[in-house]
Amino acid sequence: MNTVLDTVHSLRSIHGRFCDRRVPDETVRTIVDASVRAANASARQSYSIIVLDDHDQMQTLVGYQASHALVFCVDFHRLSLLAERLGCSFDENNIIGFVTASIDTSLAAQTAVIAARSLGVDSLITNGMHRNPPELVHQELNLPTTSVFPLITVLLGYPLDDDQPPRGRLRTEHVIHQGTYREPDAAELDQIITAYDDPTGGLGLGQWDPRDFEHYLKWFFQRWCSSPSPQNTERVRAFQKYLTDSGFWWKEQ
Ligand SMILES: Cc1cc2nc3c(=O)[nH]c(=O)nc-3n(C[C@H](O)[C@H](O)[C@H](O)COP(=O)(O)O)c2cc1C
Repeated sequence: MNTVLDTVHSLRSIHGRFCDRRVPDETVRTIVDASVRAANASARQSYSIIVLDDHDQMQTLVGYQASHALVFCVDFHRLSLLAERLGCSFDENNIIGFVTASIDTSLAAQTAVIAARSLGVDSLITNGMHRNPPELVHQELNLPTTSVFPLITVLLGYPLDDDQPPRGRLRTEHVIHQGTYREPDAAELDQIITAYDDPTGGLGLGQWDPRDFEHYLKWFFQRWCSSPSPQNTERVRAFQKYLTDSGFWWKEQ
């Protein structure tokens, strides 16, 4: 181990229980400066990072409060303006561009999380914003009508109580493949099911009651993941409309 690996292995999400202590603005700036060091496709940094420190605004937008929130947005607007200024055009507003920019944006967000932890600041990555009507998010953040999409938020702060055990992970053997994809067999699937059932492994979300569901993953699939329901279909439709309105989802002409 070295200090970088120590930091990475100490990562944990604080699920909303942040105390009132404010992260100094210089520290937030250091975290953002580090986050933009992440790799980015074609050196175009197709994201913008909006820093929030208003608790009410955070609560409204993401459903959590912390010292600060970094809203990582996919952003092609800046590039379009640059192109326009030079009399050129830039049109990557399609699903390929969106996926690529989402990778840039996510890498920057995760780098912020690592930088924060190395400075003793905890975090929560959340997509809570996507549970809100898109118009509300756009209005609150004064986002341009198209070409910007708030992808993910990183909340920064200090935990209220520091006794939360770290969440586990699947054994690396279950996620690593050598050379080609290896289909997990029934024995391996059963190992994973058992691993999730083991409370000492801390793999799951911690809300499963074995009296109601035989296995954690049964609770997960049947209760936690809302399987196709009218309400869910509506959410997917609204999300797809949001992407379309932002110009990222190509409508067939
Ligand atoms: C895309 C994404 C969205 C997430 N959204 C939430 C959220 O809304 N609320 C929450 O408490 N945790 C959220 N998390 C955190 C995960 O629950 C957490 O990373 C996972 O349970 C593993 O725990 P750990 O980060 O403490 O190891 C999110 C993580 C990711 C990557």
